[in-house]
Amino acid sequence: MRERRDLARGIPAAPAGCDGLAVRRGGEPWLGTHTAQLVRYTHALDMETAQATRTLLLRIADGTTQIVESRFVSAAHPSVFVIRWHVTACDWSGPLDIADGTDGDVRNAIVERQRAFDGRHIVDVMHAIQPDGVLLTSARLSGAQVSIAIGSRVDVQCASDEIAPRVEWKEGAACFTRRTVHLRAGETVCIDKIVSVHTSRDALAPDPADAALASLRRAGSADSLYDAHLRAWQPTWDGVRADGDDEPLVRQLNLRAFHVLQTVSAHSALEDAGIPARGWQEGYHGHVFWDDLFVLPVVTRDEPDHARGPLLYRYRRLDVARSAARAAGLEGAMYPWRSAATGDEETPRLQFNPLDGHWMRDHTRLEQHVGSSIAWNIWRYWGASADDGFFRDRGAEMIIEIARFWASAATFDERIGRYAIDCVIGPDEYHDLSPQTNRPGLRNNAYTNVMAMWTLRCAHKALASLVERDRAALARKIALRDDEPDRWLDVARNLAVPFVDDGVIEQFEGFARLRRAADPKGLADDGARVDWSLERAGDTVNAWQVSKQPDVVMLFYLLGETKLRELLAQAGYAFDATAARRTLDYYLARMTHESSLSQVVCAGALARGQPERSWAYFSNALTTDVTPLEGSAHEGLHLGALAGTLDVVVRHYGGVDFEDGVLQFDPAWPRALPRTRLSLMFRHQQLQLEGSAQAVALRAARDNTQGVAVAARGRRFVLEPGAVLTIRAGSGAVAIT
Ligand code: BGC
Repeated sequence: MRERRDLARGIPAAPAGCDGLAVRRGGEPWLGTHTAQLVRYTHALDMETAQATRTLLLRIADGTTQIVESRFVSAAHPSVFVIRWHVTACDWSGPLDIADGTDGDVRNAIVERQRAFDGRHIVDVMHAIQPDGVLLTSARLSGAQVSIAIGSRVDVQCASDEIAPRVEWKEGAACFTRRTVHLRAGETVCIDKIVSVHTSRDALAPDPADAALASLRRAGSADSLYDAHLRAWQPTWDGVRADGDDEPLVRQLNLRAFHVLQTVSAHSALEDAGIPARGWQEGYHGHVFWDDLFVLPVVTRDEPDHARGPLLYRYRRLDVARSAARAAGLEGAMYPWRSAATGDEETPRLQFNPLDGHWMRDHTRLEQHVGSSIAWNIWRYWGASADDGFFRDRGAEMIIEIARFWASAATFDERIGRYAIDCVIGPDEYHDLSPQTNRPGLRNNAYTNVMAMWTLRCAHKALASLVERDRAALARKIALRDDEPDRWLDVARNLAVPFVDDGVIEQFEGFARLRRAADPKGLADDGARVDWSLERAGDTVNAWQVSKQPDVVMLFYLLGETKLRELLAQAGYAFDATAARRTLDYYLARMTHESSLSQVVCAGALARGQPERSWAYFSNALTTDVTPLEGSAHEGLHLGALAGTLDVVVRHYGGVDFEDGVLQFDPAWPRALPRTRLSLMFRHQQLQLEGSAQAVALRAARDNTQGVAVAARGRRFVLEPGAVLTIRAGSGAVAIT
């Protein structure tokens, strides 16, 4: 019992002891930051090898011990990871105890605000040491019919060869074994821990315990696993990483690409997995929101094959979304704002205000714009990947069901002679009560309505894109009525978008009548969120013209000014360049950027019209999650914000976009952005984008199998394998070589 407590105390904050490995000098407490003096600590991620290393120099009394840890999750074997410790007795000789084990008593407790929720998700934990020394742990995930098994094997290599037999001890849900080696001063012992994890959801693992044991036996040594890992990782990484003149910038971009790739990987793409807002970490309970809108375009461009999995995740939940629409008295599919395993709406009804300890109502489940973001991703995935099978069998159906939802949610308002969508919330979650009725939900949120217009038109195009036979089959499958496609266009043409008098798009009906704050951030207590601060003061953010993050501005980020103007014109709204500029300025003056998505969206939205301002936002966006001690990076990195930065470089600055199978190339490279190169895939062809203050070029890989159709500066080109299309800054001259 005491032994476990010592071990646990050494472990938590403890660089030294996580993942069930710990060491101690004979007779002393287990080494960790709680028990020893931390003389030196370094922690590094090598993206080239997808391996993390830490070095710890720990001292107790007169004995200094160094631990060098390296760890990787195998890119070759989806269920295997490896931790290697080199432990050196720097200035002492004697016995070293090595503990290894599995602690089933883990809970999600990283996110302070979520501690009020039950963080324990692993139950019914059992351990058994196998005859070959493998520690097998079986458990169940609470609330789900999923069982999980972890097998681990520890290999110890030591010069002295004096390894005492293992002693086992269990306590609660933890099981450890201990063995002792003898070290002389300066000597190092190498400890390899190889772990295999399987669940009952794995395709080939009806019994996860058998699967964990089998894959551990197949795994071989840590060295051979490392070689296999590198062979799998490096080609993928080479196809994704950025390169360029400014090393710190390139490192930032690569960290983003790395995080996207370790979240949506070749392995996860084969699972029934969505894209959680904080990657595979605890933040937001692991929920899937709309953040795939920022992530999937990057995955689609880098590794199109990986993008299909998260879209299938949405497809598998289409029936649940249909039922949700039906339950709301509507047609089509109403996707949830926050979802997890079942596809049901998981948004909590209350959120905790840490400033005053109150639970505040949370109406964000009304963020129905999530549906349009799914349609957007499907349409763009199809455009860039040419995955016709997916589009025919699943993608078009989802887009149409989402459009049907919008067509049924829009009701004709005789007063204004237009359709209206009521009771929704836009991306700016600070406004969730109608200023007119004080009831949850807003009327005619501009972002929701414009994206609904886009989705309705997209559904029309999607249907028309199918060949007659497939169109008829889909229509039969989903009982599409003949008049529906016309109704989609009618709603798209006549949906209301509110405007303020001087041509500025109004975020929702009534926004402009709210109170104006000269300094929006000044409404908050020092460093705190505005909504929480105002609630504590007995006020509400609903009363103020203050946005947490881009809402109207989001339309510029996604659609670009030209397409936005086109959609509005098709709906009979005049919106010229001056109104666009006014709209951007209006909201930028009212934004507090309290979502990590905020700065990156502003950078993209301003890229073409206000490059210097865009660059300032971009530079701020680059600091997200870089200083882990600030902010909430320890809860999980902000995947959407990180991916969005890459999207800004390629889509907004590089000007690489596509429409109807043709790559559009219209760069707006900021002068301050040093020479940078990024790779991308378009319709199975590899391209490299290279931008600098002088010129931006698009290079087709020599081993491409086809020419790529590119539209640039009003002309059409075919970029044959090995060819380069260059657009010079200033003159805008286009050359193909
Ligand atoms: C943002 C949402 C986002 C969520 C998860 C919230 O703070 O307002 O737009 O989807 O975080 O990243």
